[in-house]
Amino acid sequence: MNTSYFNAIAGAFLAVVFVVMTVSIASDAIFHTREPVQEGFEIEVAEGGGEAGGQEDAGPFQIATLMAGASVDDGANVFKKCQSCHTVEDGGANKVGPNLWHVLGRPVASAADFAYSPALVEYAAGGETHWLYQNLSEFLDNPKRYISGTKMSFAGLKKPEDRANVIAYLRTLSPDPLPLPTPEPEAADAETTPEATEASATPEAASDAGAAADTSGSTEMTPAETTEEKAEESKTLDEAAAEGTDAVTTDVDALEEEAAEPTATETESSN
Ligand code: HEC
Repeated sequence: MNTSYFNAIAGAFLAVVFVVMTVSIASDAIFHTREPVQEGFEIEVAEGGGEAGGQEDAGPFQIATLMAGASVDDGANVFKKCQSCHTVEDGGANKVGPNLWHVLGRPVASAADFAYSPALVEYAAGGETHWLYQNLSEFLDNPKRYISGTKMSFAGLKKPEDRANVIAYLRTLSPDPLPLPTPEPEAADAETTPEATEASATPEAASDAGAAADTSGSTEMTPAETTEEKAEESKTLDEAAAEGTDAVTTDVDALEEEAAEPTATETESSN
């Protein structure tokens, strides 16, 4: 009697353990399926990855988004990869590649006394095509893919940051540096808002205030919250917008000029 009572208790206990374990395993399974769902939901992460190197999927990387934050010093460093073939001084010699003084903004294939490949000469369209931010970035990303037949034997600068920095460096090697580019339409809109104009009064605060103005529609960030830390920790659309606004607010004159001749990609340029 006693024993069977004990057995019944033990059986009930085991049944409960069984049920608990089953539930726990089942809920584990549920939680395991939920975690990836949350990761996938983090648009910010996906956005950052796309910005860093996913340009294959979303068309060519828009280098304008990085130019405002590009570093001339880092660019000089990146240029060490180019030095074996290129000089940059005014009147510098052609080596394996042409002299690159004032290359940003100048017509393609226009260095004196350099025997360009037929492919680059064709791309130059008789002096119509100029080296501007976007086409130079795409060329440097992968020269032979961008201009098939070019004799520039260089694998390319895969990192958009490297391209932005070296272009920023080349930009300074000119008697008349090209104005910084306008990143994107949203930024151009921001230019016309009073907030953006006010923000431009203080360059430091400009990007923060600009970011706040841009994000106010979607999130509730205050300028104080929009710290650099925050921007770095999550590369969001807002950041891109902030960078855009930065470019806008740091060089309003340049912008106005560019507004007159919008994206001046291949035909027009302000030499
Ligand atoms: C192995 C040598 C070599 C290296 C390294 C090299 N280039 Fe070139 N580059 C050339 C040659 C050769 C040409 C001419 C291409 C042609 O005629 O098709 C050229 C052309 C160019 C042009 C077009 C110039 C014009 O007048 O239209 C640019 C811009 C340029 N290179 C930038 C760079 C940069 C920036 C780097 C470094 C990131 C670099 N190159 C690395 C050999 C090189």
